[in-house]
Amino acid sequence: MSNDASSAAGMKEISSPRFAAFYNWMMDQPVVRRGFDPLRRETVGQAQGVVLEVGAGGGQNFPFYAPARVVRVEAVEPDDAMLVEARRRLTAAPIPIPITLTRAPVEALPFPDEHFDSAVATLVLCSVHDPERGLREIWRVLKPGGTLLLLEHVRAHGSIAAWVQDALVPVTTRCMGNCHWNRDTQQAVLETGFQATQVRQLSGGLQPMLSLSAVRPRTQEERNESH
Ligand SMILES: C[S@@+](CC[C@H](N)C(=O)[O-])C[C@H]1O[C@@H](n2cnc3c(N)ncnc32)[C@H](O)[C@@H]1O
Repeated sequence: MSNDASSAAGMKEISSPRFAAFYNWMMDQPVVRRGFDPLRRETVGQAQGVVLEVGAGGGQNFPFYAPARVVRVEAVEPDDAMLVEARRRLTAAPIPIPITLTRAPVEALPFPDEHFDSAVATLVLCSVHDPERGLREIWRVLKPGGTLLLLEHVRAHGSIAAWVQDALVPVTTRCMGNCHWNRDTQQAVLETGFQATQVRQLSGGLQPMLSLSAVRPRTQEERNESH
């Protein structure tokens, strides 16, 4: 089956069944969950209203949406193997929030402009083919005043660590589902026009993580209209 949204956007299809199997197994390991579950809860727990989740993977974030805050989640994921796992989890452990899954890349979101109150991406922007285009798409589908919530591997601060990251990118992209662990995602978010409201650098060394909340600011005209 072809990935219609990817093809329409002139993008290569994304299909890494072996990485998907390994990743979903790894993310289920108790030691990994102990590290990631609190970060997922913190990031995803801030989502509210109608929520977009991009690169939803095997649905690892779904249990962390707060039913009292979230109306529904529209999750997109371009890789069939990940979608199968996400659907399996939703069936095995139903979530008290409507969640729909659509096969699509973040660079070509099948949603109208200004549709969502929040957008969530965890461990995704390191893997996407064109993160700047993906961020512009998220901007387009977020309402003015809407919130972007990210948890991402990012570029190391130290020049030696960043050099090592750069040197190993050919390996991480090949073995870890196109992971570019050396991307300056915070800079890309700000360059798209988002305003950061909360930034937290987690851990360091070779694999620093960024926890970031940002808002799509309202224009002056939109601010006037809302008064
Ligand atoms: C490391 S996994 C993270 C999965 C999940 N978000 C999590 O927090 O565990 C990266 C995910 O990004 C997806 N991905 C890769 N390229 C993408 C793109 N262009 N648009 C959206 N998702 C993409 C992959 O298929 C994979 O499911």
